[in-house]
Amino acid sequence: MASIFNIIPLTLFLALSFQAYGQPCSLSDIRVSEFKTSASRYNVSVTNRCSCSQSQVKFNCDGFKSSQPVDPAIFSEDCLLLQGEPLHFSSVVSFTYVSNSRFLFIPISSQISCP
Ligand SMILES: *[C@@H]1O[C@H](CO)[C@@H](O)[C@H](O)[C@H]1NC(C)=O
Repeated sequence: MASIFNIIPLTLFLALSFQAYGQPCSLSDIRVSEFKTSASRYNVSVTNRCSCSQSQVKFNCDGFKSSQPVDPAIFSEDCLLLQGEPLHFSSVVSFTYVSNSRFLFIPISSQISCP
């Protein structure tokens, strides 16, 4: 009897570790860097540091406004990156916006797909 009660926690432990290894990436692997290129123009580049692709990458953008249109293929009005297309390992995409103040882009969701 005692052996069964020993096995259950072990199985649980293995299941949890497998899950951790099966999903080595997280939203925090989406890195955003931003710098000012001229008076009110900012360059934002986004990269995926994870070996798995991340698609449907979405940012917070409450209050974001650019006085010149942002390339919608890269960053659309609903704050979706690449129209939801996957951002692959170590690839970088960038866009520029024009504003009087810097906006801090924070990834809020993505779909991770490991091969
Ligand atoms: C933003 O800066 C990066 C790094 O300097 C550059 O490669 C990229 O072309 C710039 N993006 C835009 C949209 O200007």
